[in-house]
Amino acid sequence: MAKKILVINGSPVKNGNTAILVNWFCEGARGSGAEVEVVNAAFLKYKTNGCISCRRCQKIKEYQCVIADDAQPVLEKMAQADVTVMATPLYFYGPSAQLKLIMDRMFSLYKWDNKADTMETPLKNKTFALIASAFEDVGLDNLEKPFAITADYSGMKFESLLVADAGESGEVKNIPGIREKAMAFGKKVAG
Ligand SMILES: Cc1cc2nc3c(=O)[nH]c(=O)nc-3n(C[C@H](O)[C@H](O)[C@H](O)COP(=O)(O)O)c2cc1C
Repeated sequence: MAKKILVINGSPVKNGNTAILVNWFCEGARGSGAEVEVVNAAFLKYKTNGCISCRRCQKIKEYQCVIADDAQPVLEKMAQADVTVMATPLYFYGPSAQLKLIMDRMFSLYKWDNKADTMETPLKNKTFALIASAFEDVGLDNLEKPFAITADYSGMKFESLLVADAGESGEVKNIPGIREKAMAFGKKVAG
């Protein structure tokens, strides 16, 4: 069966470095037979500014955010995908706010029983991947941490492609061998 890969692009720049890396990733993954869908998180419309910690998702049996906006179907796809890829530019040593807005809504993909000290999630045994780029070679390790820890906490395998010295938006193409590297990453994640 073809692997289902959901890519969430958190860059607000339509043809920028993140979009270019995502396209190469998709080329590699699709070439390996994966079914890939890309969601541009920066252009989704929300009813709230991110997760509002209402905790109502914890009172229903479905793994679903109760706020009916553009995040809902994306979260549903995330629960069904074999691989979720989050792609982001480095913004002040962390992910873009546009990505974080939907990432926090992932709260609805977990059920906690604090008394029994248990946590269940449909993300378990799946793969979480990160694609990130930055102007400098400082801070991508810092950005990677919350993604890697989230994967570990969720029982997911973690993979990352971190691209330093990517320059201004669109300039990532100038890094020698980067297209091949991003395509190989897509192939690896799809394999
Ligand atoms: C708001 C903002 C904050 C940024 N912060 C950093 C930073 O802390 N370190 C860095 O190396 N690059 C930083 N950059 C540069 C971007 O991470 C880099 O150019 C990235 O590859 C752009 O990806 P994009 O074209 O998809 O937007 C920042 C850019 C913006 C717009």
